[in-house]
Amino acid sequence: MGEPNNTGDVTVFDKIGGEAAVRSMVDNFYKRVVADPSLAPYFSHVPLDRLRNMQFEFFSAALGGPVRYTGRPIAHIHQSLRITLADFQRFVQHLFETLAELPLTEHETYEIVSRLNLYTNDVVSAGTGIVG
Ligand code: HEM
Repeated sequence: MGEPNNTGDVTVFDKIGGEAAVRSMVDNFYKRVVADPSLAPYFSHVPLDRLRNMQFEFFSAALGGPVRYTGRPIAHIHQSLRITLADFQRFVQHLFETLAELPLTEHETYEIVSRLNLYTNDVVSAGTGIVG
């Protein structure tokens, strides 16, 4: 923990403020997600402590932090949940609003959001909204 990564660059993980700040960002994000009546049902039987920790690891790794993701593969976890594209977009919107409270540039915020959008196909498995 706290060691520079092998590129020597300041990562978005550092920019947010390191481990404590990323944990608090993930907590704020999940509060928003489970308070959303469209998203809450997905989480009704989920132990949130484990989820928060896994999400912390995932976000930290995705933001270039010195943390390894030890959870299950993203596609595998979400496939049976029948998540719609509309709900995926709501989830990302909550992330966007959470990030807006942090001292990040617009570019960094878009970089984070676009990294998450790479997982759309792994997470969404129902109601793509494409009719035909
Ligand atoms: C890019 C978007 C997403 C990422 C990166 C992500 C990441 C994760 C991670 C790391 C876990 C924990 C894995 C583990 O316990 O091993 C998880 C679990 C879960 N996610 Fe996501 N997630 C995303 C989107 C969503 C969305 C949009 C929903 C629902 C609206 C959702 C619902 C859940 C639920 C219900 C679980 C718990 C499943 C279980 O423990 O059985 N996720 N997700």
